[in-house]
Amino acid sequence: MGRVAGKVAFITGAARGQGRSHALRLAEEGADIIAVDLCQDIETIGYPMARPEDLEETAKLVEKTGRGIVTAQADVRDAAALKTALDAGLAEFGKLDIVVAQAGVAGMKGNPPLQAWIDVINTNLVGTINGIQVALPHLSEGASIIATSSAAALMDAHQKANPGGDPGGMAYMTSKRLIAQYVHDLATELAVRGIRANVIHPTNCNTDMLQSEPMYRSFRPDLEHPTRADAEPVFYVQQAMKVPFIEPEDISNAVLWLASEEARYVTGMQLRVDAGGYLKWYDYHV
Ligand SMILES: NC(=O)c1ccc[n+]([C@@H]2O[C@H](COP(=O)([O-])OP(=O)(O)OC[C@H]3O[C@@H](n4cnc5c(N)ncnc54)[C@H](O)[C@@H]3O)[C@@H](O)[C@H]2O)c1
Repeated sequence: MGRVAGKVAFITGAARGQGRSHALRLAEEGADIIAVDLCQDIETIGYPMARPEDLEETAKLVEKTGRGIVTAQADVRDAAALKTALDAGLAEFGKLDIVVAQAGVAGMKGNPPLQAWIDVINTNLVGTINGIQVALPHLSEGASIIATSSAAALMDAHQKANPGGDPGGMAYMTSKRLIAQYVHDLATELAVRGIRANVIHPTNCNTDMLQSEPMYRSFRPDLEHPTRADAEPVFYVQQAMKVPFIEPEDISNAVLWLASEEARYVTGMQLRVDAGGYLKWYDYHV
């Protein structure tokens, strides 16, 4: 029997990267999936978002596991659209147990800068809250909410508070810090109802977000057009363990645990999956 057998999971940003990996991992362990993704570009963000074909591929991969999936193209910035998408999934599966609010964009080098700030805050912070809020009326005792922040959110202000050195980068940091705070408060509120809420903080993760021009430029500000080969040696700086990045599956395994009964008394946690990055960057915060 799977570790989340019979449960239903709502996942934002599920067309590719970590979101697709979470959908697959949860399905392999017995969950049905409601998957949403924007599937179109955001003008201010300097790398492409997923495409409709990516979301279709997620659906095919989930179906191969034998579980059901309902997909929708929806923007997490639009709560009404998210609700419609979730309602379609609820009509199919009849209930909701797991929320993985993880759609996000990296705004470093985003242009024009003010609009990049707005788009990142609205996607990463407001979008995460929207995903959770539309789901809340359908959650009951035993449900698990998981939000994706970033190891970047845990950096001390004097360390690396603004990864891109610009408004889009600052918005990334701010949005991720506020997700952590929001979920902390939410967990406090929901504990009495037996609903859990936790945050995962990934370090560099090997997805299209990391492997993108704006990210390479953030890691190599000394070069005008840095490539992956230029950036990769610098990727190591984030982690204490000797890896440039982790893989989406590393985050999915944490998602699976938090979603399962194995974590039934784990709530309000800020779970770092960061190959020791926090240990490296902080002297004394336990
Ligand atoms: N990749 C990393 O190094 C890293 C590190 C720490 C945290 N994260 C976080 O992990 C999460 C997943 O990112 P990823 O690494 O899989 O990147 P990704 O770019 O591969 O995936 C993000 C997905 O979200 C979708 N999306 C973007 N804006 C959306 C919107 N407004 N509405 C709906 N869907 C939208 C994209 O189309 C894409 O499919 C993000 O929240 C990101 O900030 C990533």
